[in-house]
Amino acid sequence: MSRDDRALQAAAEQIVRAQENKARRPSIAGFFDEATNTVSYVVHDPATCEAAIIDSVLDYEAASGRTSSSSADLIIEYVNSHNLKVTWHIETHAHADHISAAPYLQERLGGKLAIGKEIIRVQEVFGKLFNAGTDFERDGSQFDHLFVDGESFKLGEIEGIALHVPGHTPADMAFIIGDAAFVGDTIFMPDFGTARADFPGGDARQLFQSIRRLLSLPDETRLFLCHDYKAPGRDEYAWETTVGQQRTSNVHVKDGVTEDEFVEMRTSRDKTLAMPNLIMPSVQVNIRGGRLPDPEDNGVSYIKIPVNAV
Ligand SMILES: [Fe+2]
Repeated sequence: MSRDDRALQAAAEQIVRAQENKARRPSIAGFFDEATNTVSYVVHDPATCEAAIIDSVLDYEAASGRTSSSSADLIIEYVNSHNLKVTWHIETHAHADHISAAPYLQERLGGKLAIGKEIIRVQEVFGKLFNAGTDFERDGSQFDHLFVDGESFKLGEIEGIALHVPGHTPADMAFIIGDAAFVGDTIFMPDFGTARADFPGGDARQLFQSIRRLLSLPDETRLFLCHDYKAPGRDEYAWETTVGQQRTSNVHVKDGVTEDEFVEMRTSRDKTLAMPNLIMPSVQVNIRGGRLPDPEDNGVSYIKIPVNAV
């Protein structure tokens, strides 16, 4: 760990404090959406019942253009049955594979909507791609709070800290709550590897550095992933691992893999990947904080598809 990396140092110290004292650790429930391979989390402080919802999913059927809330309603059920008070809706990044349910959940449960400050860069890139009008603000104002690297926050009495981990997109953040790190799309299960780095604004070299930064946290740090796709030879979905397990066995970035080797592997692998099915609707909606584009004069919202542009 670089001595100059104060944010990382603070995160590591927070994790050690949480490991030494159970009261500083959050309760965590994962909700897996098989349609998009996404894991949403409800994280709460058992002492105060304050909760954060991380990376929620609004169901969307591309062929009909219909949204539905069955995944989000499962989260509401959980929150209500555990008497939780939601204070945060956190997005690890502007997702390209599912639409966020944050506004739907926020309306029903309260709480502030947050994402990383670099979302402004993502809004800039995709605002241009979708030829969004001047009514689309590219200043992050669709969110209630924009986190910066090293920023600390509280979930009830539990400490939290945000780390900027760009590479998959420029705005990716990891949120560390107690001893648990919600790492978004950086690293996946050890047998699957890492997130792609070929979306507009993505960068494989930056992704490697972000991942190695996360992997210099204490070995016992619990890592909670945003996606799982199983892996050859594994039949069950999984989304929890540790820094130690990643360092010894991640097929893309275990200890010993050099930055150049990673960049070479990631870049050539990304060339073989198709764009996610829902990238166009997802990005268009998620850069607006999960809100649909403003309805046209007939009251209907439209999703645009740029032809031959990506
Ligand atoms: Fe993503």
